[in-house]
Amino acid sequence: MSVKQTVPFAGTQEQADQLQQIIAQLRDEPGSLMPIMQKAQEIYGYLPIQVQTMISEGTGHPLEEIYGVATFYSMFNLTPKGKYRISVCLGTACYVKGAGDIFAKLQELLGIAGGECTADGKFSLDACRCVGACGLAPVMMINDDVYGRLTVDELEGILKKYQ
Ligand code: FES
Repeated sequence: MSVKQTVPFAGTQEQADQLQQIIAQLRDEPGSLMPIMQKAQEIYGYLPIQVQTMISEGTGHPLEEIYGVATFYSMFNLTPKGKYRISVCLGTACYVKGAGDIFAKLQELLGIAGGECTADGKFSLDACRCVGACGLAPVMMINDDVYGRLTVDELEGILKKYQ
């Protein structure tokens, strides 16, 4: 599935300089690609293709290898996260209680697909695994706020609280 990037890349020269410095420091150490990518994500908040390209050019690792690592490990984000990060639990207990409908309705209300961020940078939407609150299924989190026993009809009102 291709992920549409709804927020244009807006890296600064300062961020690029920071990244170049990290690459110069770590480049020659064995196994340094992961630490460089982690630092890059700390600097930019995510690893868009522009940042992956900078890492590739700075380290000599092919872009395909960097993309492969970035997509394999769940700690790396290829798209930016919103100011408000919405996670809908799609674990079994939540799923049987209608979490799929919750997820679909949020996509419709926000105009984005799972894994994306709204163009104003406010909301990002992701599915997650069981968060250990199955008794409250279906469950969604917005940053640290937990919403349980959710219904599709409540979603619009909940989102308004964050507008
Ligand atoms: S399955 Fe959703 S909280 Fe456990």
